[in-house]
Amino acid sequence: MAPIDPHSFTDSTHPLATHISLSLFFDFSSSTIHASALLTLPTPHSGPLSLDARGLTIHSVVDPQSAAQLPFSLSSPDPIKGCHLTVTLANHSSVLILYTTAPTSSALQWLSPPQTFNKTLPFVYTQCQAIHARSVFPCQDTPAARVCYSARLNVPHQLSAVMSARHVDRREPIAGEGSALACGDAMWCSEGRMVEEFVMEQPIPPYLFAFAVGELGFREVGPRTRVYSEAVPAVLESAAKEFASTEDMIRQGEALFGPYEWERFDMLVLPPSFPYGGMENPRMTFLTPTVLKGDSSGAQVVAHELAHSWTGNLITNKTNEHFWLNEGFTTYAERRIVEVVQGEDRAALNIGIGWRGLNKEMERFKDNLEVTKLKTNQEGVDPDDVYSEVPYEKGFQFLWRIERQVGRPAFDEFTKKYIATFKFKSIDTDTFLEFLKANLPGIEKEIDLILWTEGTGIPPDAYEPVSSIYTKIISMANEFKLGRMPMEDEVADWGGMEWELYLENLPKSIEASQILELNSRYNLSESKDYEVKVAFLLLAIASKCKDHYAEVEKTLKAVGRKKYLVPLYTALVEGAGKEEEKILAKRVFAEARETYHPIAQSVIETILSKHI
Ligand code: BES
Ligand code: ZN
Repeated sequence: MAPIDPHSFTDSTHPLATHISLSLFFDFSSSTIHASALLTLPTPHSGPLSLDARGLTIHSVVDPQSAAQLPFSLSSPDPIKGCHLTVTLANHSSVLILYTTAPTSSALQWLSPPQTFNKTLPFVYTQCQAIHARSVFPCQDTPAARVCYSARLNVPHQLSAVMSARHVDRREPIAGEGSALACGDAMWCSEGRMVEEFVMEQPIPPYLFAFAVGELGFREVGPRTRVYSEAVPAVLESAAKEFASTEDMIRQGEALFGPYEWERFDMLVLPPSFPYGGMENPRMTFLTPTVLKGDSSGAQVVAHELAHSWTGNLITNKTNEHFWLNEGFTTYAERRIVEVVQGEDRAALNIGIGWRGLNKEMERFKDNLEVTKLKTNQEGVDPDDVYSEVPYEKGFQFLWRIERQVGRPAFDEFTKKYIATFKFKSIDTDTFLEFLKANLPGIEKEIDLILWTEGTGIPPDAYEPVSSIYTKIISMANEFKLGRMPMEDEVADWGGMEWELYLENLPKSIEASQILELNSRYNLSESKDYEVKVAFLLLAIASKCKDHYAEVEKTLKAVGRKKYLVPLYTALVEGAGKEEEKILAKRVFAEARETYHPIAQSVIETILSKHI
């Protein structure tokens, strides 16, 4: 037994499945999926095969050739990894597993009709990164293992499905398809059901598996791009507008990083409970509706998820310990795209907000320095609990440092070659460093690569961006200490990013009266831009400005994006003399919990349990 990933039961001595074929019967009344997974191995295997499973009820394990039952065992759950499913093979090169998911499946959010926009039909979607694919199907749930897949989704006929895969058919169920499933053929072929079929022919890590099922609509926004969402014309219109520049960005991505290998780049705007800003599911990026601000700034999130098409989805981190290879590279790539599409000032502002974020994270993790490294040790660590800006912003700074050293043309050439060399592979930090040294000879003499990748904190040769707008905003924020409010004409052309940067740079020790004054002038607490609103509400909580607690509560109940929930709940419960705030946090969480995705639920539970 030799694990290849601290977050998986996958064993280095076992073959890695190369294809998974799924049949999924969606039972909205019980929030479960009756399913089968056919795993194909590259070679026949005898003996145990270790798989990951979380909350799955395994009905039987079968030899698909002879239909004979095969022995299996399921361990009791590990709090982080879930259950170790062992199936025992005898010269088999495929295995069929019949199972049912749990209503509490950590990847799935089941929305009842009242929780949707149109309020008439249910909705369900996945979020598999980092280690939740195993709660949807049994698999070797490590990004070191890449699989192709096909899927048949049996759904009520009023609903349709999208996946991180090519859509091949929507048709009536066929007798026999459901016979082996726990639901049986009678249910599979019952009145009013439809089957949606998909295939993903390119090998992907399991965390990129994704589907959404609901009353979906779409708009065309480009030659290889549609935007999907719940069928609400207003949402679809504003999404189509917001993302109009997507094709430009894809072309820019191709110019910088090489061909776009995934054929289509569609997007799905999810309900407000979606726990992330965006998720780079191949062919179908998932997005929070909070990016629809009406000012094209959502394009930055799209640039980021699009950039993952090269860095993350083509080249994938081998385990979550090398997560910076995904997110640091993507943050760098995102900013290169933004620079071309939106201009250097936007990119510099973006870098400045990131720099501020990185410094904040160093403060947050001063008692857990391991998290401040690029290459981290995650033995016994839940990746959802240590999610931070460090891999994004320290990773970005590292690559930007290399770019400064060798110059842009040489670095661009390096990046293209890096992507072409490792596409469809999963790699670790050492592989990256070896390739770096081989292709930019002497780099290790100029940059302390070990300090950057294995050291804690921010290396001395990291770089605070300079641009006139960035520098101006920082100095205005510093002047606030002396009681100077920004003047109307100074902020007349400020967008969300300018305000965000300003607010995040204000001193922590502002008086409640100053908060009220600032808000009476600029009404930040009700900004439609959640980045601005949340940055403001955090200041309000820090200064115990109780007038804004009702807005805090409203915000915590309106969105489920972890980026907003985590700092708001943390600000409420962390520190001394917070009795009233703790009571508020506890009550709001009790009331809002059901509306959050399970991943957000569990992260907030961890935060509250630490402080209450
Ligand atoms: N892949 C991440 C989201 C993610 C990370 C999900 C780890 C689960 C575990 C995605 O690409 C991302 O970084 N999203 C950001 C967008 C931003 C940086 C523009 C987000 O959600 O805030
Ligand atoms: Zn990302």
